[in-house]
This record gives sequence, structure tokens and C-alpha cells, in this order.
Amino acid sequence: MAVTDTLFAAAREAMALCHAPYSKFPVGAAILAEDGRVYKGANIENLAFPQGWCAECTAIGAMVMGGARKIREIGVIAEKMAFCPPCGGCRQKILEFADAETRIHLYDGAGAVKTMTMDELLPFSFQTDTIDKG
Ligand code: THU
Repeated sequence: MAVTDTLFAAAREAMALCHAPYSKFPVGAAILAEDGRVYKGANIENLAFPQGWCAECTAIGAMVMGGARKIREIGVIAEKMAFCPPCGGCRQKILEFADAETRIHLYDGAGAVKTMTMDELLPFSFQTDTIDKG
């Protein structure tokens, strides 16, 4: 199975588990991490609206708690959108665990529709070597 298909299936599974009663805009994300495992997540909203978070955040949290620190590829799907570009905040969050060439796949209900690199998704990103990343 191609990586894009694996991520597509995982992102769809995740999307089905979203908690999006307010926006009714289910989103799923799946990460193939450096350890070869797939980590997934969905958006989780809250009655106090600003407290909700995106599918990409849930997937990144799952990856970090799984012990991995590097995204090889990530896929995102939204039920109601032909393809769903990650929001601005998620782009920076993905970048934390990615590099310029990391591939981001955007899906519709049938499969991959667009693939881009991290550099294309977030050009002119915040980066500085005045802070030690460890
Ligand atoms: N959402 C995501 O999960 N990821 C994105 O990149 C864009 C937006 C969610 C947040 C909210 O639960 C719903 O989509 C509507 O904005």
C-alpha cells in the first residue's frame, strides 16, 4: 500500500472520531513518523470555543506521546472540503517536527488531491538560531 493510501485511511478513521458538534466540520490527520508508525488525530472542539483544537494538533500530540519526534509525511482530510489546507497555527506546529522537504498530503473523500512540501506550505516561517532547540 502506498504511503499516501495508508495516511488517507488513517486520517479518515481519525476524522470519524472527531468531536466537532459546534462547527460540524470534521477533520482528520495522520502522521507517518520517523519510527515507521502512523499517528492520527481529529479536531476536538469545546463549548468555550477558543479551547478547541485542530486534528493536526491531536495527531502531533499522539506522535510525541508515542515517543517519536519527527514527521516523515502527514495527511489531512476534511469531510466538507475538497481539500483542507492546515490553518496557520498548525503549519507552525507541524514545522516544529518537520523540515523544509517534509511532504503534506491533502485529501478529499476519494484520495490524495494535493501534495506539497513544508516549505511550500509555510514559506518565510519563524525560525531562529538564537534559541537552542536542543
Ligand atoms: N480544523 C482542523 O482540525 N484543522 C485545520 O487545519 C483547519 C481547521 C478544525 C478546527 C475546527 O474544529 C473546525 O476545523 C472548523 O474550523
